[in-house]
Amino acid sequence: MIKYLLYSSIVLLLIACGTAKRGEPAYAPLATTEPAVVQGKVVFDTFCHKCHPGGEAGLGPAINNKPLPGFLIRFQVRNGLGVMPAFSDKTISDSDLDVLVAYLKTLRKAKEDKPAQAP
Ligand code: HEC
Repeated sequence: MIKYLLYSSIVLLLIACGTAKRGEPAYAPLATTEPAVVQGKVVFDTFCHKCHPGGEAGLGPAINNKPLPGFLIRFQVRNGLGVMPAFSDKTISDSDLDVLVAYLKTLRKAKEDKPAQAP
């Protein structure tokens, strides 16, 4: 648990320091050059994108539109649920999972930062 708290704080720190460009397209809005986040995108595109395209809903639900805590993302990835397969540390190493979580938090932030749609 302490480990998870530590991870979450590191991730929060990463995000707090990241810059978010506004007005990016809804799809794959990677507005950072933070190395962890860039690596996380590679992991995401390899294993998650096909069901959660760009973090939006596909075969799986959207994961860029709700404040999923890091430990929950990790749990879901390691254990799977329903149609979603489990990914062991042989497929996604612990460090890959770290950067994946950092990327997902950035995706959500990018979504939140987008201005509300004009009426
Ligand atoms: C084969 C398709 C598939 C792949 C690949 C996949 N997912 Fe999923 N994911 C799903 C489905 C389906 C659900 C909904 C599961 C349920 O509630 O039964 C889900 C749910 C989730 C949730 C919970 C969302 C919520 O609203 O609580 C998270 C987080 C998530 N996936 C992250 C990931 C990540 C990260 C990866 C890549 C490592 C990934 N998924 C790969 C299909 C997939």
